Amino acid sequence: MRSALAALVVIALGLLASADPVLSPYSLHEKRHNIPAGWSYNRKHDSSAVLPLRFALTQSNIDDIGEHLMDVSHPESPNYGNHWTAGQVLQMFSPHEDTVNAVRNWLMESGVERERIRVTPNRGWIVIDATVEEAERLLQTEYHVYSHASGTEQIGDILTGCTTACDAYHLPEHITPHVDFVTPTVHFDAKVRVNKRSDTGSEGTARTIGQPGSGSHPKTTGAITTLFNELEACDEQITPICLRALYGLVYEPLAASKNSFGIVEYTPQAYLQSDLDMFAANFSTDLVGVAPYMVSIDGEGYAQTGETGFDYNGESDLDLQYGMNLVTAKQQVTLYQTGDMVEGASFNNFLDAIDGTYCTFEGGDDPTQDGVYPDYAPGGYTGAEDCGTVKPANVISTSYAYNEADLTPFYTARQCAEYAKLGLMGVTVLYSSGDYGVAGNDGLCLEANGTQSVNGTIFNPSFPGTCPYITSVGATQVNPNSTVYEPEGACEQVIYSGGGFSNYFAMPDYQKEAVAYYLKTYPPQYPPDIWNASGTSRGLPDIAANGANYVVAIDGGFELVYGTSCASPVSGAIFTMINDARLAVGKNPIGFINPTIYSSDFAGAFNDITMGGNQGCGTAGYTAVPGWDPVTGLGTPNFPKLVAKWLLLP
Ligand SMILES: *[C@@H]1O[C@H](CO)[C@@H](O)[C@H](O)[C@H]1NC(C)=O
Ligand SMILES: *[C@@H]1O[C@H](CO)[C@@H](O)[C@H](O)[C@H]1NC(C)=O
Ligand SMILES: *[C@@H]1O[C@H](CO)[C@@H](O)[C@H](O)[C@H]1NC(C)=O
Ligand SMILES: *[C@@H]1O[C@H](CO)[C@@H](O)[C@H](O)[C@H]1NC(C)=O
Ligand SMILES: *[C@@H]1O[C@H](CO)[C@@H](O)[C@H](O)[C@H]1NC(C)=O
Repeated sequence: MRSALAALVVIALGLLASADPVLSPYSLHEKRHNIPAGWSYNRKHDSSAVLPLRFALTQSNIDDIGEHLMDVSHPESPNYGNHWTAGQVLQMFSPHEDTVNAVRNWLMESGVERERIRVTPNRGWIVIDATVEEAERLLQTEYHVYSHASGTEQIGDILTGCTTACDAYHLPEHITPHVDFVTPTVHFDAKVRVNKRSDTGSEGTARTIGQPGSGSHPKTTGAITTLFNELEACDEQITPICLRALYGLVYEPLAASKNSFGIVEYTPQAYLQSDLDMFAANFSTDLVGVAPYMVSIDGEGYAQTGETGFDYNGESDLDLQYGMNLVTAKQQVTLYQTGDMVEGASFNNFLDAIDGTYCTFEGGDDPTQDGVYPDYAPGGYTGAEDCGTVKPANVISTSYAYNEADLTPFYTARQCAEYAKLGLMGVTVLYSSGDYGVAGNDGLCLEANGTQSVNGTIFNPSFPGTCPYITSVGATQVNPNSTVYEPEGACEQVIYSGGGFSNYFAMPDYQKEAVAYYLKTYPPQYPPDIWNASGTSRGLPDIAANGANYVVAIDGGFELVYGTSCASPVSGAIFTMINDARLAVGKNPIGFINPTIYSSDFAGAFNDITMGGNQGCGTAGYTAVPGWDPVTGLGTPNFPKLVAKWLLLP
């Protein structure tokens, strides 16, 4: 393989001789060991096809980002709550001018015309549209096309990347220090799973975002014939009154105009106004006819209504019905609708858009500067990629997740640092922790060689849950035949709360005491080769909330829905109301909450969950025990206690 690559270089150099390039030897930059589950090899990519090549530039001072984040987020820090502006974030972390120049010069020396090279306004990326042939030469790699098992022959189901025979790409040695990674290459990131299952679904709602073909296995869900909506029946049907009783959420917003709550959805997942209205008519009449404030990211202001069914509307209807109800009609909810129908989007597209507040900094905003969109496929969004157009809400909830093992360490580290930037700016970022207990999406577990398989035995945590700069939300249930006045257990109906330990990220300081106590007092009885028993890796989830038996209006009927997908927007609504209370007395939003919620001051502010477990990978998983555990984290929010404690903080 080495000699084949060398031959390729020689040819490339020959063609370029007239440009007199100053090229250093190439070295391996990133390597993928396995094709993610569900994908299979299709064919060699057409050499004339155009790829939006993006070089993630190395950021300045990025190794210190955790400390900066603690400085504004730790309740004992004198700077608690003194969040940064987008401009301050840009100044601290944006790539050094030398980095931008080095990569640009290399591209020009390699024959890419200057006018084709674009630097994103946040200076984080260099973008060129390159033919496959050109990209192969620049990166000393080969592009191949993969298909996903759920897909048809549509272009939206095709992903480009290297083959396993050539599962790596290379960069000249003098460029290596300036680039984190290049996309599209070895990252299968155009795909995100929805953390939710219908009550009759056994294999989960595994679908891609932006890929209509993936809805080809619609789940039939149990329609409810009788709606209880009674506190006595919360073990069978969760409605908003159950959640208000469970978490003490009785609150009328006072500072709504200063506050914001964002819910992220990935097209083709979309809400139906008729469903929101049906839910509102039953549970909050002042929300009838009320739509979320939609911010469209890479998708022409468009929540699609052409495709319906549980796989298209379930997630969005759930998130918005509960999110909007719990913050009341007084508080507007922002919907970040991300991606178009064809290409879809990944978390990075969303982050580009909100991280893009930087684009307006220094008056340099030019949204035409970014190149993943336009999307060239038929029916694609042909506008420019959103950048700098979206101001992040104070709380942002996302109910989609990858398996950590789907992505490379470089890639996850970069994205995780973006979440830290949001935290620095005072944003609370919530992600559902996954619905398969200690297993990954679709119940996949790891083999010793890193492959994900249904036959794997090694626990497989979710991402971004393993990123220490987000708040990961697991799921609980009102136990059968119990009431909302009795303690909940870990969710063991239809889904199991995602939880465990990262294989990529070290344990953050804020959770060291809580996790050490867990590991010492309740050491999991599993051999260290099936879980990360190092005692030094990030544990998840951080918190939990109810995730079983939700009554959701979907396509004109009520269905029961289960998932950590329920728990994330409900927690988001609760933190939004805490922000309201603080904003009403002139304080700042709570921002990144983990250092606060793990602190001794906040002991007892979450309802500790001590029943149930999160089975997976052929095991019983972990068990919920007193204190933090890798099933339900610190427990479920107790709104009256949390709001009182947070009002005492500066
Ligand atoms: C509640 O939802 C049902 C559908 O299950 C609908 O028939 C009914 O009209 C709704 N109730 C109100 C008050 O609108
Ligand atoms: C990884 O290990 C599994 C189980 O032993 C095996 O089935 C699979 O082929 C291996 N994959 C690779 C890429 O080596
Ligand atoms: C899992 O194991 C079963 C039974 O040994 C086998 O039939 C199947 O092919 C395996 N699946 C994978 C993905 O390795
Ligand atoms: C709940 O109560 C019903 C009726 O009393 C009983 O049939 C059922 O077994 C109980 N379930 C559990 C989990 O205790
Ligand atoms: C356990 O997690 C740490 C990161 O905290 C990582 O360095 C280590 O490789 C992981 N162990 C395994 C077996 O994956």
